Amino acid sequence: MTGPVSEGLDGIAVGETEISQIDGSTGSLAIRGYPIAEVAQEATYEETVFLLLYGRLPTAEELTGFRKRIASNREISNKVKIVIEQAAQEEKSAMDALRMGVAGANLGHERDNPEADAIRLIAVFPTIVAAYWRYRQGKDPIAPRQDLRHAANYLYMLTGEKASEARIEGVETYLNTVADHGLNASTFTARVVVSTQADLVSAGTAAVGALKGPLHGGAPGPVLEMLRTVNETGNPADYVRSTLAGGDRLMGFGHRVYRTRDPRAAVLEDAAHEFYTESDDADLFETAREFEEVAVELLAERVPDRRLETNVEFYTAVLLAGVGVPKELFTTTFAISRVSGWMAHALEQLDDNRLIRPTAHYTGEIDRSWTAIAER
Ligand code: SDX
Repeated sequence: MTGPVSEGLDGIAVGETEISQIDGSTGSLAIRGYPIAEVAQEATYEETVFLLLYGRLPTAEELTGFRKRIASNREISNKVKIVIEQAAQEEKSAMDALRMGVAGANLGHERDNPEADAIRLIAVFPTIVAAYWRYRQGKDPIAPRQDLRHAANYLYMLTGEKASEARIEGVETYLNTVADHGLNASTFTARVVVSTQADLVSAGTAAVGALKGPLHGGAPGPVLEMLRTVNETGNPADYVRSTLAGGDRLMGFGHRVYRTRDPRAAVLEDAAHEFYTESDDADLFETAREFEEVAVELLAERVPDRRLETNVEFYTAVLLAGVGVPKELFTTTFAISRVSGWMAHALEQLDDNRLIRPTAHYTGEIDRSWTAIAER
């Protein structure tokens, strides 16, 4: 092979999709043609899932039926609870527990009914995450309620109490905002798995593994730690300078596609601002705003050839902390949302029978002869 290598498939189109449209230069994102700000603010998460899976908004009657269908798939078996309890006792990460729970959740694996697999995964992710968190607290899991919408039920299963409408709306805005984002690493992983004609549950399990990394879905936790540190020291410039001087990445900044501010950062900043004005933790929000201004300026000095702006994870950390999601569950909360995007892309991939199989330039040794072990 002699063609050019594109490191990390940067800028390489590997197919066509009708699901989300990203313009990295202007910083815009649309889900099935609807601007992300409208989806984030207008939709319930179930409407966003319906839009992702079926390409249009549901009627009121369809939404009622769809909400019931998801709610009726939320339960997990005792077998899965045992797997999750053991992961919690061994203090495995929430993402590892989610991956183990999904693999053990005896989910469909029905290639002949992939849509049922998709609905089941979307429904059961919050139950697995909440059960893990309860076990980590030394408490029994709380059974899902069928009368609560997705975001409300997730918060309910964490504490056993119905959350305030402000917290529910904060989580729902977040779930809508990060549900899909083109061929990011975890979504591409799901598509590769489906392209081998494996089932959607295997695709979802593999995607959980990809999302875990700090360069992808694992960034919000470190962002919150960073902001809490600066909230104490009161000196964002020193923090940014020492991080960059150490050759480390500033979590929550930069993006493979966006060459300007991630449009989702603006949506989540507004949602967080709305939420924090009513909370007594407002100084964390103000620290975040000041940090962002200083960081973008110092990043421009440090990496002049690349505009490194705020990505989705920065205000994700601020919003989720504000609505009371524990930092340990930030990435699994991302997965609870993004599983709907993974499933939409997996179903779209089913229509394309091509196995995804790139190539690489070989740069290793050649023409070697075998040496018997006695002569090595
Ligand atoms: C998500 O793809 C998606 O759509 C992902 C996502 C989604 O919705 O699925 O949007 C979610 O993953 C958001 C990103 C969350 N990750 C972080 O916030 C971690 C910090 N950011 C990075 O590590 C980085 O910006 C990436 C991984 C997000 C993007 O990396 P790229 O496109 O591969 O950019 P790069 O590594 O080529 O960086 C170019 C230069 C580098 O200089 P050199 O090391 O080559 O000399 O810019 C520098 C980088 O060092 N750089 C940074 C930086 N990001 C890039 N320097 C300091 N801090 C940063 N955050």
